[in-house]
Amino acid sequence: MAESMKGLKRTHRCGELSAANVGQTVTVMGWVQKQRNKGGLIFVDLRDRTGILQVIFEEKDCGEENFTKAEKLRSEFVAAVVGRVERRGGAENKNVVNENLATGEIEVRAVQLRVLSEAETPPFPIEAGSKTKEELRLKYRYLDLRRPDLQRNLMLRSKIAAAIRTFLTGEGFLEIETPILNKSTPEGARDYLVPSRVHPGTFYALPQSPQIFKQLLMCSGYDRYFQIAKCFRDEDLRADRQPEFTQVDLEMSFVDVDDVIDATERMVADVCKEAIGLEVALPIARMTWDEAMNRFGSDKPDTRFGMELTDVSEVVKKCGFGVFTGALEAGGSVRGINVKGQAEMPRKKIDALVEFAKGYGAKGLAYLCILPDGSYKSSFTKFMTEEELKVLVETMGGAPGDLLLFAADRLKIVWAVLGALRVELAKQLELIDNNQFNFLWVTEFPQFEWSDEEERYMAMHHPFTMPMEEDLELLETAPGKVRAKAYDIVLNGVELGGGSVRIFQSDVQERMFEALGFTKEGAYEQFGFLLDAFKYGVPPHAGLAIGLDRFVMLLVKAENIREVIAFPKVKDASCLMSEAPNVVDEKQLEELHLRITE
Ligand code: AMO
Ligand code: AMP
Repeated sequence: MAESMKGLKRTHRCGELSAANVGQTVTVMGWVQKQRNKGGLIFVDLRDRTGILQVIFEEKDCGEENFTKAEKLRSEFVAAVVGRVERRGGAENKNVVNENLATGEIEVRAVQLRVLSEAETPPFPIEAGSKTKEELRLKYRYLDLRRPDLQRNLMLRSKIAAAIRTFLTGEGFLEIETPILNKSTPEGARDYLVPSRVHPGTFYALPQSPQIFKQLLMCSGYDRYFQIAKCFRDEDLRADRQPEFTQVDLEMSFVDVDDVIDATERMVADVCKEAIGLEVALPIARMTWDEAMNRFGSDKPDTRFGMELTDVSEVVKKCGFGVFTGALEAGGSVRGINVKGQAEMPRKKIDALVEFAKGYGAKGLAYLCILPDGSYKSSFTKFMTEEELKVLVETMGGAPGDLLLFAADRLKIVWAVLGALRVELAKQLELIDNNQFNFLWVTEFPQFEWSDEEERYMAMHHPFTMPMEEDLELLETAPGKVRAKAYDIVLNGVELGGGSVRIFQSDVQERMFEALGFTKEGAYEQFGFLLDAFKYGVPPHAGLAIGLDRFVMLLVKAENIREVIAFPKVKDASCLMSEAPNVVDEKQLEELHLRITE
């Protein structure tokens, strides 16, 4: 039976009450966390998003009818309680204070109870740190979302979004919405398509980002734009990726790299301070892409620990180990990492690392253990002279007790393998201080990335990114060498955001499309409206987008991006709760001029 709340008005949220309210009569409403019947006394923990409050029912205060109702309360019933705030156990009895509860000093002595809604037994307990399997939690996401962990995450997310709006508005940014139904532009990830009913055989694409629109807004003179924008990308999911996600997207006119970096890092610092009280030291350190790759094998290095890469190509170039020399002769590279103090890692564990490396494209992983007595145990010492080994160990900064790991391959693979190994080993060996927040700017990204699959250069960031002025002349002759005015902000080894200075000259934009293998007509068909806009007066402009979900995820130290999204999708991009995507009926398909093929 559900009662109405007629005549009652909530005065406080559960977690807002404290010793300062003692003596007041209050009306609270929420979910029953737990009911304990101790005979003449019934204790009820009432929960809302602010916390848990102990309510105590005694017949002499609340009367028989209310007491009988209180006896029937079960977990997750929704109740309204009118009562008096009291110190727990009276003035003298200090022992009953519950240190685990924010409201632990007080309780509410009920005089009135309304059962607003009854509840079936939930499929899993609503509590912090749930051990319930995630599939079940996601199926009943509306219950999962009652748990304090998720409520804390989403409340913090809201706080972060509010802080972002306040900061950017204060800096003269205008919040402007851009369309969701767009034209498909295949550059980038795969699009989500929406069929048009009115125009048979045509499709809209959901935005992968508001990129072109924000550039057009600059052309239109809006000067500084931002949007907390939903973006959609049909790509394989990972722990920090969702098919729909949110960007803090911004664009500025009459600026260069430093201006965007400055505005962004002040925003990030402001938000960190507001949200979790974290002081971010400004300016944030910067590193070129080249340096990041050479030192860490990654364009998003986790700088909370060392184990940097060392290039040993020079010192092994003439050695007798065919794996090394073969790779070098084929134009590759040999590099290693020094895993300090791990010389006695069991063979089984080393074999597991070799398998891990193969997952990143390695053909193998060569190891050298420097045993405490200075002797070596290794997969390749037999191919090298004593002197060659000595130089190799010295180059690696090796000392007795160290484990050296080497990859020999195309440089791209060597980076990928050692970059991933470094992070994996740091996790396994617990080298990472979880209380550290290491921000880093990675700058001067390559303009292009060669795609073996497409057999052409692809834009590493996107086709509107401006090359560094001094590299412009290489656009046609040596595209692989062109560096871009592109930058990423990295936090603890995760790409938090990225952006670039944009091309604003139509001739450069045309050369860019050409370098990317577009014909003039092809480029015009895709991006004609942007190219046209550039004919009518365009300011130099630049911008960036931060992944809001990732930002929140890192600030709350969540393992997975799903923990900071109210209704996330799982690995196969489905929603376990609503069961989207679903089949639609024949009539809908017909209206959209679609037929399903086998
Ligand atoms: P980019 O593609 O680098 O840049 O995206 C910017 C940031 O968005 C976040 N992000 C994601 N978060 C969750 N799930 C995903 N699938 C996902 N994909 C991206 C990341 C990333 O750093 N228009 C440009 C920005 C610009 O140039 O201004 C853009 O979209 O945190
Ligand atoms: P092999 O001669 O192929 O038995 O390899 C000898 C050692 O070199 C083994 O420990 C392999 O794991 C390792 N190895 C093989 N290929 C590579 C490679 N491309 N880079 C680094 N080590 C490799």
